[in-house]
Amino acid sequence: MDLKELEKECSSCKKCPLYEGRNNVVFGQGNENASILFIGEGPGEQEDLSGVPFVGKSGQLFDKMLEAVELTRDEIYIANIIKCRPPGNRNPKPEEAKICIDYLYSQIDLIKPTIIVCLGKVASEYIIHDDFKITAERGQWSQKGNCHYIATYHPSYLLRSPNKKAEAWLDFKEIKHADKFLNKEDGSN
Ligand code: URA
Repeated sequence: MDLKELEKECSSCKKCPLYEGRNNVVFGQGNENASILFIGEGPGEQEDLSGVPFVGKSGQLFDKMLEAVELTRDEIYIANIIKCRPPGNRNPKPEEAKICIDYLYSQIDLIKPTIIVCLGKVASEYIIHDDFKITAERGQWSQKGNCHYIATYHPSYLLRSPNKKAEAWLDFKEIKHADKFLNKEDGSN
């Protein structure tokens, strides 16, 4: 199965009740050969309406952070732990995430990123380890297999706590200098 086929399957998913309230499945966006995969939590209102991840206010901040380290959405891939918007933007329930995360695992298998950046605590808990402490553990590299993992604050948290932007900037500089890990044969980022 390729990414397009997986997206098609995901777009008609009814495996958890979140499908009932969605306008669009937000599968993911970006370069299928990206070396860097960013993982957020789940779609908000704007993402649900457009079907594209990180297009609301937090997405605008995310774009600025990418730009600051000279990356564009065409070079990276961005996806979420869950693909349908939880009502009122609540955190995904464990039973929803448990079902939906298989799509993300398949995306990871197909894209084969060298670097995974978790945006916020929820993504970090599901992807790095389950008692992840974002304040203490952000900005630190870990490795599983051939993939290097790092977490930073979620952009929507940074909108609420702008004093944390300096730390997020340090994390993005780590990501910028992660080319030491980038050894993809096709030369893409
Ligand atoms: N927040 C997320 O975690 N993901 C999105 O796609 C949008 C906002």
